[in-house]
Amino acid sequence: MKITVVGTGYVGLVTGACLAEMGNHVLCLDVDARKIDVLNDGGIPIHEPGLQEVVQRNAQGGRLEFTTDVDRAVAHGTLQFIAVGTPPDEDGSADLKYVQAAARAIGERMTDYKVVIDKSTVPVGTADKVRAAIDEALAARGLQLEFAVVSNPEFLKEGAAVADFMRPDRVVVGADDERAILLMRALYAPFIRNRERLLVMDVKSAEFTKYAANAMLATRISFMNELSRLAETVGADIELVRQGIGSDPRIGTHFLYAGAGYGGSCFPKDVKALVRTGADAGHDLLILNAVEAANERQKQVLVDKVVKRFGEGAKGSLAGRRFALWGLAFKPGTDDMREAPSQVLIQALAARGAEVVAYDPVAMDEARRSMPGQPGLQYAASANEALADADALIIVTEWKEFRSPDYEFIKSTLKQPVVIDGRNLFEPATMKAFGIEYHAIGRPLVA
Ligand code: UDX
Repeated sequence: MKITVVGTGYVGLVTGACLAEMGNHVLCLDVDARKIDVLNDGGIPIHEPGLQEVVQRNAQGGRLEFTTDVDRAVAHGTLQFIAVGTPPDEDGSADLKYVQAAARAIGERMTDYKVVIDKSTVPVGTADKVRAAIDEALAARGLQLEFAVVSNPEFLKEGAAVADFMRPDRVVVGADDERAILLMRALYAPFIRNRERLLVMDVKSAEFTKYAANAMLATRISFMNELSRLAETVGADIELVRQGIGSDPRIGTHFLYAGAGYGGSCFPKDVKALVRTGADAGHDLLILNAVEAANERQKQVLVDKVVKRFGEGAKGSLAGRRFALWGLAFKPGTDDMREAPSQVLIQALAARGAEVVAYDPVAMDEARRSMPGQPGLQYAASANEALADADALIIVTEWKEFRSPDYEFIKSTLKQPVVIDGRNLFEPATMKAFGIEYHAIGRPLVA
């Protein structure tokens, strides 16, 4: 099939590349000429395992092309995916200006039947606005052309995006046009062996499903983070509690890991946007308000632990202290620094006069960009190098390469053998055996 993908960000590029992988002829459009140049030169503008290979293979095969030419892009695909950004507005609602601009651009140029597919995460009711924008543009041209607007939210996870797209646990299609449903079924059939995994529903329910999924996952995390605080106080171990409840199939094992708070481009934004949608509709979403507040507080948990252990005086000053920081990205497998708990931690430690020497296997360039000129922050070339002269090691991201460190080296290199672990990577018993003081999340302190 001929497909156009508007927006070569995270979702758009993965969608375009994976659809081309199945033999479709995909043209990706972006207004950012630099991005298109990078892609045309065989590079990719983001870090995502396996994506570069898929992009290159399909670009070489002539099935995947990149352009800034809007006319060509609209003419190309019968299916027009809109995968542009929906940044949060000041009030937390999703800003739809890019989505609407894409819709208008299609309406201003189309000459035959199009299926316009919202792939970006957009609030309930956006498909109606997209339809209205296209109708208006067509009316201005004095035309009445048939088109469908479909909601097809994306559930892929950063770091596993290609695998998630190629083998989805479900594909949600919200549509009320039979012809569009037929095309969407045909498009996704190669990705889904089990036909029941293609869920066709009305447009609004599909739009809602995306927010409901992310809000539910964020809720589980905030719930566990909250319990982890209580566990520490009453002397329970949240890791054992997690296993204890996760073995109940009604609860399940995923997304029960207490940590330094959730970040990334989706959960924080989508929870806020759903709260906003609720408020606009006259519904005060009590649980989601609390999920958001609990996460903001959780991003402070490492700061609190460091100040409690090293802060002197009433102001919790950390002047003269130096901390090794392992992990900057909001989660492993990505260089994404958006809403990363590491940023909150670094700023808080620096504000108290501490120095931070950070190491991340892939996110250091991105960190330099997102925290330009951050006082007190330096970068190390390796995890071990970061430890030199540090008062303690703080772990914020659970990269695999941090999971089996040289414990003896940690102990002998740090000024004091103190590890403050925001991701519960180690067993307290191991740390005890190595003589390392260990502060984890919701677990007993190894003093
Ligand atoms: C998420 C959704 O999983 C995905 O379906 C949606 O399309 C986009 O948002 P992503 O943001 O890539 O994906 O990351 P995810 O792996 O879901 O992690 C989100 C955050 O939650 C991370 O900061 C992670 O550290 C945190 N997390 C996750 C926890 O703190 N505990 C957990 O148990 C799981």
